[in-house]
Order: sequence, then structure tokens, then C-alpha cells
Amino acid sequence: MALDGDVEVMRYLTGRARARAEVLEEWLPVMSRDAGTDGSLGYWAGRTVAGFVGWWCLNPAPEDPGDAELGYRLRRDAWGHGYATEGALALLAHGFENVGLDHVWAQTMAVNRASRAVMERLGLEFERTWVGEWNEPLPGWEQGEVAYGLTLQEWRARP
Ligand SMILES: CC(C)(COP(=O)(O)OP(=O)(O)OC[C@H]1O[C@@H](n2cnc3c(N)ncnc32)[C@H](O)[C@@H]1OP(=O)(O)O)[C@@H](O)C(=O)NCCC(=O)NCCS
Repeated sequence: MALDGDVEVMRYLTGRARARAEVLEEWLPVMSRDAGTDGSLGYWAGRTVAGFVGWWCLNPAPEDPGDAELGYRLRRDAWGHGYATEGALALLAHGFENVGLDHVWAQTMAVNRASRAVMERLGLEFERTWVGEWNEPLPGWEQGEVAYGLTLQEWRARP
């Protein structure tokens, strides 16, 4: 419960900690659905010698087999070491070079500076912003969401 059970980790996601039962009964089925069915995309757990640090995902877009959404969620004690960027780079390489994706994107709240910094370190380009409608809006919701992305062509052109 060092991830969804930590309110700081969930600050820009739910704004509150999730209980274990809620993760198992409600969130895991959603993760499983979003991961797709062919096994080439989905969720990866990350570990260091000290143990589990968090997960990364590359989830297929239901309507476009060439498109996938990148995500990451790390334990608070694993922040500030470069792990999120390192793991996400490995997923970009997998997605573009092994799976044959032609576009990867990521989204977050505009106010989630740490997540945006990961996207920028990865070389993802800002694509769009929008303001959503939420039943329980989180602080900063009025600044909207942002999406960043990278095409296969841009991936190949990286220095
Ligand atoms: C978003 C999240 C994964 C970012 O984690 P992070 O540790 O800041 O990101 P990185 O792994 O890229 O690490 C970069 C930091 O490590 C530092 N660092 C230390 N050693 C490093 C190394 N060898 N290589 C690279 N960076 C290193 C960098 O200087 C940077 O620190 P700074 O932000 O103080 O400048 C993390 O904040 C998180 O899990 N948040 C909660 C979940 C969430 O919001 N997910 C996104 C929802 S869309």
C-alpha cells in the first residue's frame, strides 16, 4: 500500500489514499482491462536491490493498435532518483522497437509538475491541454489536463 495507500502518491490522481480492498476489487480490474489482451503491452513492476519501487504502464489505445498511453506511479521513497524516467525510456524503446507502435502519449494534471518533468525528460512533445468535468475536482483542476506525445519518427530522430 506504499502506492495507492499513500495520499502524496495519489495527490493528482484521486486526492486521497485508496484502501486495500478498493485497490483489489475496483482498481485491479480496471488495470487488467486497460492492459490489453496480447501481452505485449500493459503494466511492468520496477525493483531495485532495495525492493519494489513502483509500476510503469504502456496501455494500448482501444481504437488504434499503433497508439499507446504511457503511465508511471512510484513509491514516495523512490522519487528523486531518476527511476521513473529510466523505466519509461525502456518502455518507449519496447513500444517503438519491439511492438511497432507509431505514437506514444501521456497525460496528467497540468499542476503535476513532477509528472510533466518526466515527460519532458523523455523528449515527449506537448500536444494539447483541456479542462475536464469532475464529480470531485482536485485542487488545480481549473488549470486542466495536459497531454504529451512522441511519434515513431521523432523517437528515431532522437540524438
Ligand atoms: C511522477 C513521478 C513518477 C516522478 O518521479 P521522479 O522521481 O520525480 O522522476 P524521475 O525518476 O525522472 O527522477 C527525476 C529526479 O531524480 C533526480 N535524479 C537523481 N539521480 C538521478 C539520475 N541518476 N538520473 C536521473 N535523475 C536523477 C533528478 O534530478 C530529478 O530530481 P528533481 O525533480 O528534484 O530535479 C513521481 O512523482 C510519482 O510517482 N508521483 C505520483 C504518481 C503520479 O503522479 N504519476 C503520474 C500521474 S499521470
